[in-house]
Amino acid sequence: MSAIAAENTITVQNLLAAFEGESNAHAKYTAFAAKADDEGFHGAASLFRAAARAEQIHATNHSRVLHQLGSRSECEIHKVEVKSTLENLKAALNGEQYEIDTMYPGFLAEATERANKAAMRTFHGALEAEKTHARLYSEAIALVVSGKTDTWIGEARDFYVCPVCGYTSETEEEHERCPVCNCPWEKFEIIR
Ligand SMILES: [Fe+2]
Ligand SMILES: [Fe+2]
Repeated sequence: MSAIAAENTITVQNLLAAFEGESNAHAKYTAFAAKADDEGFHGAASLFRAAARAEQIHATNHSRVLHQLGSRSECEIHKVEVKSTLENLKAALNGEQYEIDTMYPGFLAEATERANKAAMRTFHGALEAEKTHARLYSEAIALVVSGKTDTWIGEARDFYVCPVCGYTSETEEEHERCPVCNCPWEKFEIIR
């Protein structure tokens, strides 16, 4: 471990844990998207793809800070357990909720205590973006449970993903800039 990484041991450990979580979430959501397409939930598949892209952005952001702190970013990608789309949506929501309620607030508090601005920024961006995923997954679960396949859940659709922080929106031009990181809307990626 480099001297700078040793000075920031806990922040580095937290960044590695977050990097691993995001990298695995990306793999999971990509597999869940394929399953949702198989089951005819094409809108849920679009949502999984958009969230997968957002998690990849988070992983890249965490990795950049790890490198700045003199650490490598490596992790193990676990085998994905794919179940029904309803179960996959619930598993995804649980993962997001853990990150929102526990993981990121703790990591953000530690980085704030150490006044590590780069770590604070990457944790804050991910925390806020995960809230958009939790909201969209909850909506998707309610639609699948009620059997309303004539809604967006049944049709492939566009989602808008902030390329800087991963904020995910179902509405075009809801804002002029990303409400989390201020990135201009025209830079958002459209994921279907
Ligand atoms: Fe997420
Ligand atoms: Fe953003």
